[in-house]
Amino acid sequence: MTLDVSKIRADFPILQRKIGDNPLVYLDNAATSQKPQQVIGALTHYYTHYNANVHRGVHTMSIEATEAFEEARKKVARFIGAREPESIVWTRNISEAINLVAYSWGDTNIKSGDEIVVTAMEHHSGIVPWQQLAMRSGAELKIIPRTEDGRLDMDAAGELITGKTKMVAAVQMSSVLGTVNDVKALGKLAHDHGALILVDAAQSAPHMPIDVGDLDCDFLGFSAHKMLGPTGIGVLYGRPELLEEMPPWMFGGDMILTVSYEDASWNDLPYKFEAGTPNIADAIATGAAIDYLSDLGMDNVLAHEHALTEYALSRFSELERVTVMGPTDTKDRGGIISFMHDTIHPHDMGTALDQMGIAIRTGHHCAMPLVRSYDVVAAARASFYIYNTQDEVDLLIDGLKQTEEYFLK
Ligand SMILES: Cc1ncc(COP(=O)(O)O)c(C=O)c1O
Repeated sequence: MTLDVSKIRADFPILQRKIGDNPLVYLDNAATSQKPQQVIGALTHYYTHYNANVHRGVHTMSIEATEAFEEARKKVARFIGAREPESIVWTRNISEAINLVAYSWGDTNIKSGDEIVVTAMEHHSGIVPWQQLAMRSGAELKIIPRTEDGRLDMDAAGELITGKTKMVAAVQMSSVLGTVNDVKALGKLAHDHGALILVDAAQSAPHMPIDVGDLDCDFLGFSAHKMLGPTGIGVLYGRPELLEEMPPWMFGGDMILTVSYEDASWNDLPYKFEAGTPNIADAIATGAAIDYLSDLGMDNVLAHEHALTEYALSRFSELERVTVMGPTDTKDRGGIISFMHDTIHPHDMGTALDQMGIAIRTGHHCAMPLVRSYDVVAAARASFYIYNTQDEVDLLIDGLKQTEEYFLK
């Protein structure tokens, strides 16, 4: 089934916006997505009708808030095929999810001489927490390289993942190249060597069906703001038996069972990892975002973006002086297209397109080592979502042609 894009667009008030005199063409979805009225409505409904703290009160509103908050957790669990809602820990974003694992699991399990393997395509959030863990513990960080055509070098992965490896952390969809990595195969390699795998699903969970059972991953994280939800909330999925063994990372209210002046004991999963009043409103609104995506069907979301990316790649090939980074076909590739012009700086392209109402990302995309491996310090990036259309792709390409005329005339 194809998506009814005009119906979808009507749900997003911001898409009515103009930038100067031009209708907004929002192609910066890899940075953050726009929010449908259903998500905005869930936030205002909570604050208007049942704003109260969770897990504490016996009064009606606290019970309603607790039920909605925990229901949202169940929705997240169903969305990624997790059997137990207690395997879902609310975090601020995926960055915090990865830090939680790197500190809690990492500081307990990683020692000098161990190896942590990440891919060359990681976002800074998928590099720095492991780099710091390696520095703290004396472990070594190894990098699975990319191939010329922007895919992961799985032969190299086979050599790098060894008996010394304790953790493999891999991005499922590159935020720069759009490449969809075979994290299931990486997980198998990790498990064959007694290591664990953490999947960074920041760019995949919003755009394709995810099943943690099928992926057979140990940890997986994502941020709600990239999948129609609010900012300030994300998710860590962890195998319950691993989470059970891990010590808390932050301490305070709600995460304790008992407290004396001398000692404390910890609450059950997942609360052991949720110190303090949680982000109640945004968790509930994340549930609304998941309802929205589930109603569309993640297979349909994937198919829509696949078609759009195929069209966009064919139109990009008209631009002789523009190079697309990463795979130039749509096999195992999502709707993120980073590109460079042989003369025009990405920031100039971004600023010129903004004058036409077109929002793209420019810079290092929080993946400096990957972008630099293309011998550039910055690139431009267009990224698609459920509300983008072929007409908008045409506007982007026409905008780039006009930019060329302006700068190169
Ligand atoms: C692949 C990937 N991982 C991690 C992140 C970090 O997300 P957040 O800033 O929401 O923690 C991003 C954000 O762009 C990303 O694209």
